[in-house]
Amino acid sequence: MAILSPSVLGADVLNIKRDLEATEAAGVKWLHVDNMDGCFVPNLSFGYSVVGALRKATDMVLDVHLMIDKPIRYVEEFCRAGADYLTVHIEADTPENIDKTLDKIAELGVKPGIVVKPKTGLDAIRPYLKKCALVLVMTVEPGFGGQKFMQDMMPKLREIREELDRVNPECHLEVDGGVDLVTAEICKANGADVLVAGSAFYKAEDKAAFRAAIEK
Ligand code: DX5
Ligand code: ZN
Repeated sequence: MAILSPSVLGADVLNIKRDLEATEAAGVKWLHVDNMDGCFVPNLSFGYSVVGALRKATDMVLDVHLMIDKPIRYVEEFCRAGADYLTVHIEADTPENIDKTLDKIAELGVKPGIVVKPKTGLDAIRPYLKKCALVLVMTVEPGFGGQKFMQDMMPKLREIREELDRVNPECHLEVDGGVDLVTAEICKANGADVLVAGSAFYKAEDKAAFRAAIEK
């Protein structure tokens, strides 16, 4: 069964508490939290203090996506703030440092994950798949909500699922970017089991129906 992880970046910043309550009322179990540094991506968002505030406000699983350069500098703060899953981009540091970053996240008792941008293939992450609890495949260039879904990521998604089935079948495979009720079906058919949705979820009138359609 698939899991919906709404991206709180798509919520109304002046009404985050109201939107969180609506998210929980829809039966949602995971919440995706995007953190951007203005360097790895050309945008800024949130940070570990926001993750800490969300942790106090909800029992949902916090699926925290770091779009920051050299994430090893900050993973301890994000783990202590209450992330359940903490994902870092393979492109954000040297492969050796990303390997150390994943180990550090696990040592802090948090589930580590790795993220690939659209131009990054399976070979770049293959050595780290065994230590991941989640692999995230971007279906837009990271940085902004509301972009168009890149269907040409589907062969890579399927290839990663097949490799995970060989080396780490328990690992979740997540997609992020342009996911709506139509594109979610395409992602699920290609092996995704966690679907991030920002704009589509927060614009949906009937959030419970949206969740049920994704998780069916
Ligand atoms: C983009 C973020 C996404 C974003 C998704 O860099 O990582 O999580 O919030 O938003 P939608 O679903 O609107 O594409
Ligand atoms: Zn994200």
